[in-house]
Amino acid sequence: MTKEHATAGLNITREQMVQLLNEDLAGEYQAIIAYTVYSQVLKGAAYTDIARELEAHAGEELAHAIKIAKQIDYLGGMPCVTPKPVKTSNNPVEMLRADLENERTTVGRYRERICQAEAMGEFALSETLRAIIVQEQEHEIDLSAALDINVPPAKMPADQKNGGQQEKHSHVSRQ
Ligand SMILES: [Fe+2]
Ligand SMILES: [Fe+2]
Repeated sequence: MTKEHATAGLNITREQMVQLLNEDLAGEYQAIIAYTVYSQVLKGAAYTDIARELEAHAGEELAHAIKIAKQIDYLGGMPCVTPKPVKTSNNPVEMLRADLENERTTVGRYRERICQAEAMGEFALSETLRAIIVQEQEHEIDLSAALDINVPPAKMPADQKNGGQQEKHSHVSRQ
């Protein structure tokens, strides 16, 4: 099943939904860890406000993890216990950028998941995910403001498989 979900599109089975939600859950665990650590190690007067925000994010990510785990259990699955890897850095800007990249990925994943949940008729799941995505977008706004940049577009799962590049590499050789 590992490959199928990448191209599963809108119409997926309960088992595929459980697998995808478990990947989402691993991302929530990653976010809890990153925000817990970064909020404490971000140093300097310029980062006081964002450090406090990151601490609040950590708590929100934990709430997301619990909601996702509940939905996995409801669908008959077993919530995973392993986080996605967390990037470490001593550089405040790198830390904030790593968080922002993860949030972009998360927003893209939940956009897709909401559509899949709707297609399954799982409206409670959809509502849960919609509430979560609102907060993920707020996290993106907080991080972008701290980095003094505009909020970048979400990374949709299809883009993520290509390292952020658009699909469609031409197979026609250039001569
Ligand atoms: Fe989250
Ligand atoms: Fe987040």
